[in-house]
Amino acid sequence: MLNKEELIAEAFKAMENSYAPYSKYHVGAALQTADGKIFWGANIENASYGATNCAERSAVFAAYSNGYRKDTIRALAIVSDGEYLAGPCGICRQVLSELIEQDTPIYLSNGRDTMETNIAELLPLQFGMKDVIR
Ligand code: THU
Repeated sequence: MLNKEELIAEAFKAMENSYAPYSKYHVGAALQTADGKIFWGANIENASYGATNCAERSAVFAAYSNGYRKDTIRALAIVSDGEYLAGPCGICRQVLSELIEQDTPIYLSNGRDTMETNIAELLPLQFGMKDVIR
């Protein structure tokens, strides 16, 4: 299993695949599963802007697309080349709140600053399956 620094390094490698001709803001993500697999994600922009996919959603969707589910996801690193350490956008927080465990470590880095958090911290008072399925 990769440690925090190694998973962040994987996310920076994933960031090289970022397709961001509009914002020129590059984001990468790396997700580790219990059996040691790493799924990369990058932000993939679109001329319609709204069809853009964020890096962390790309990584989580890749893991799910390959059969993994929240109980097998061990950690997620999200990195950017921004000046400030950035947290996931609101849409990504909503997606992560359903697709990873509440206490799964989320590592954020911009190469200078790094922090560790989780989705329970990032998204309080969550709207989710419990509200919809009655
Ligand atoms: N972006 C991400 O990939 N993840 C986030 O959580 C924040 C935003 C991307 C989307 C877009 O391609 C660029 O960053 C600027 O918003």
